Amino acid sequence: MTLRSPVLAVANDDRVGLFDLQRQRARLESDIRARIDAVLAHGQFILGPEVDTFEKRLATYTGAAHVVAVSSGRDALMIALMALGVKHGDAVFVPAFTFAATAGSVASIGASPVFVDVDPVTYNMDPADLERAIAEVEAEGRLKPTVVMPVDLYGLPADYVAIGRIAAKHGMTVLADAAQSMGGVSGNARVGALAPISATSFYPTKPLGCYGDGGAVLTEREDLAEHVRMIRSHGRQGTGDAAMVLGLTGRLDTIQAAVLLVKLDVFEVELARRRAIAARYSAGLKDVVTVPAIPDGLQSAFAIYTIRVKHRDRVRALLDEAGIGTGLFYRLALHEHPAFRHFDGRRLAVSEQLTAEVLALPMHPDLGDEEVDRVIAAVRSAVAAG
Ligand SMILES: Cc1ncc(COP(=O)(O)O)c(C=O)c1O
Repeated sequence: MTLRSPVLAVANDDRVGLFDLQRQRARLESDIRARIDAVLAHGQFILGPEVDTFEKRLATYTGAAHVVAVSSGRDALMIALMALGVKHGDAVFVPAFTFAATAGSVASIGASPVFVDVDPVTYNMDPADLERAIAEVEAEGRLKPTVVMPVDLYGLPADYVAIGRIAAKHGMTVLADAAQSMGGVSGNARVGALAPISATSFYPTKPLGCYGDGGAVLTEREDLAEHVRMIRSHGRQGTGDAAMVLGLTGRLDTIQAAVLLVKLDVFEVELARRRAIAARYSAGLKDVVTVPAIPDGLQSAFAIYTIRVKHRDRVRALLDEAGIGTGLFYRLALHEHPAFRHFDGRRLAVSEQLTAEVLALPMHPDLGDEEVDRVIAAVRSAVAAG
């Protein structure tokens, strides 16, 4: 195994992409090919030894007692909800400013997502609005408050202390949507050990990404881990034939686990580079735009580096002309998606405002300092012109 640092070279072409998986591939290719070749040779494509090794290594890294690797981040959320016994008539509280999969996982098992507004500084679930949302659901009496599902937006852990306290008061469980935050830290604990049960994604552009779809459920509870293992494999227990519970084809492919084993070896080096890039952006931009706020005691995994800026669409167009790739995460709050409009009913002013102002800048561990400086200069001139 080689452990090389991210290459700090400038791209051959002049464009600075929002993500760039090719540079990482070039850096890790020989190790990844060797790992994949080993899978081709032993032929255990489903739940082969690499899956088990990866689960154990991710458990050690995160501090989670149990890790069960599954087919995607969305499936991880859905399987976790199923393992918790969430069903029709249950309310699952989710932030309104997140990716569609957060609410989709809830709705697809017949439960009801209830949208909670986000904090205007961290953009994560606002504990005060969570209290209001729970009170509203309790007063209406139609749904049973069951689970709170905070999201670690852009890689920044949610406020698990405040949210955990509120959940406990109402007899609810916290399920962390940690799809974006593998590698994030709160106090002395890593993401995966911040909530009783967490779901993460290994989508290729995530901080820890594979070469296809993948995800994992991480939990401190053995009973939940066992239930998740059954659900991911047609509801069967171990090698038994009988479906003990309703299940899915929800396993992580062995080849994806092989890729992840290589990427986990260099993960801390890559995270350090992401954080250094974020610090450089923030130092160069904080006087002209709103840069990410990282509360004391938290560390973001910086899956995405997002600024907040007036005249966002004009600034974005100018950056495109300057050869800078950007992204909009997210242009719609959850209650504005056609698939989720019928769950609406609450005031979600911060989430709505953010959809008009957020702008993601290039972020990946192989971005060079010269490129970061070019992005900073381009943003500054676009904001001045915008
Ligand atoms: C917050 C959040 N939740 C869930 C998911 C779903 O993960 P996946 O794409 O692996 O299904 C994502 C992925 O982008 C996400 O960002």
